[in-house]
Amino acid sequence: MTDIKAAIFASGTGSNFEAIMDQHENLGCRVVLLVCDNPSAPVIEKAMMRGLETFVFNPKAYQTKADYEEKIVQKLRELHVEWIFLAGYMRIVGPTLLAEYEGHMINVHPSLLPAFPGKDAIGQALAAGVTKTGVTIHYIDEGIDTGPIIAQQEIAIDPTDTKETLQDKIHAVEHELYPKVIRELLKQKV
Ligand code: GRF
Repeated sequence: MTDIKAAIFASGTGSNFEAIMDQHENLGCRVVLLVCDNPSAPVIEKAMMRGLETFVFNPKAYQTKADYEEKIVQKLRELHVEWIFLAGYMRIVGPTLLAEYEGHMINVHPSLLPAFPGKDAIGQALAAGVTKTGVTIHYIDEGIDTGPIIAQQEIAIDPTDTKETLQDKIHAVEHELYPKVIRELLKQKV
């Protein structure tokens, strides 16, 4: 297997974490760490079941974002992590992490950016009454969901869709698209 090392950052359920890990043999990198900012997130158990090292922290235990990001960076350096995949990581990335990983840190977002950035992109799309939405994979920059776009896939919104049905459709697309984009991106970079 390749020697390029990666970390996944997640805050919640971790269905994208699972989708990426299910493709681990084909990714072109080795995921060596889960970083999680929520000690009660189900994704932690998922990582442990796979024998993956975890770095779990409580942001409230730190005075500033720079303080906890410095700890994360230390851990990433220790493990020689080159790539970061955000998968439902609910924090804005600050200058400390960006200084080390900008250009090597990507995210999955449940809309066709630049439409509906930030929280509750699915609710935003439904409230706007649009007929299509989708999934975006993009690089992280200092803004909120503003970094350069790598890939997008459209999803039609049916008039009968609820937040739950649309979320299911979005997840299904994310779970295919995210591992595929990681694989293609890493292939280009070697
Ligand atoms: C995904 O829909 C992703 O687009 C967004 O957060 C959600 C995380 O879901 N950033 P999960 O934890 O991977 O199930």
